Amino acid sequence: MSEIVLQAKGLKKSFKSPTGLLTVLRSIDLEVYAGESVSIRGSSGSGKTTLLQLLGGLDVPDSGEVKLKLSSRTMLSPHRCLGQGVGFVFQNYQLMPELNAWENVALAAQIAGQGESEKEAQALLALVGLSHRIHHMPTQLSGGECQRVAIARALINQPAVILADEPTGNLDEVTGKDVMNLLLEVVAQRNTALVLVTHSKEFAERTQRRFFLSSGVLTPA
Ligand SMILES: Nc1ncnc2c1ncn2[C@@H]1O[C@H](COP(=O)(O)OP(=O)(O)OP(=O)(O)O)[C@@H](O)[C@H]1O
Ligand SMILES: [Mg+2]
Repeated sequence: MSEIVLQAKGLKKSFKSPTGLLTVLRSIDLEVYAGESVSIRGSSGSGKTTLLQLLGGLDVPDSGEVKLKLSSRTMLSPHRCLGQGVGFVFQNYQLMPELNAWENVALAAQIAGQGESEKEAQALLALVGLSHRIHHMPTQLSGGECQRVAIARALINQPAVILADEPTGNLDEVTGKDVMNLLLEVVAQRNTALVLVTHSKEFAERTQRRFFLSSGVLTPA
């Protein structure tokens, strides 16, 4: 049995809204194993982004806990992982507009305190097929190219898990398929686990385990 790299137990999350308290996640338990791919589908507003943010430590649950595997060490809360616990890939890329592709990837390593990272950033950009675009600014890249940069950035700190939130949501069908092929290929190559949020049944079917988020709970799809 392979090891657990992400463990969520009893996650609950509500938001204050103008009409009162909105409970989005009621009780989420999820274990992700090293190198496996997991997908989460669910209707718009069902809480998929909220869940990924809790899993990656971008937000905190009202109750419950998340633990991530950090290199060879024990499981830690995402807040103690200094950007190394997970890699994020967002629908709208979230690249730094004033940095070129190379700098965007290297910055993620610098923030995590990884030191000299230029060579690794260049190698990852080559891995995602962008050797010829490393000096381009985000505004000079196509959507698909921006997402390739974001995938390289997500990989640079060698996280055990990548959390991808509708990574093909802004792309046309052909480019979306290319980006999804790339993402599934690189995580498999590097034995990185993937939690993929998607509206696409076709893409979800390419992951090893599938869930549906509805009424604040995850059920196997
Ligand atoms: N900061 C917040 N304050 C109040 N309500 C919020 C906040 N963030 C999210 N919500 C609400 O929580 C619900 C879940 O939002 P979330 O973004 O997680 O949905 P989603 O499943 O990712 O939807 P989509 O498929 O459209 O991206 C929505 O109804 C949203 O309005
Ligand atoms: Mg969302």
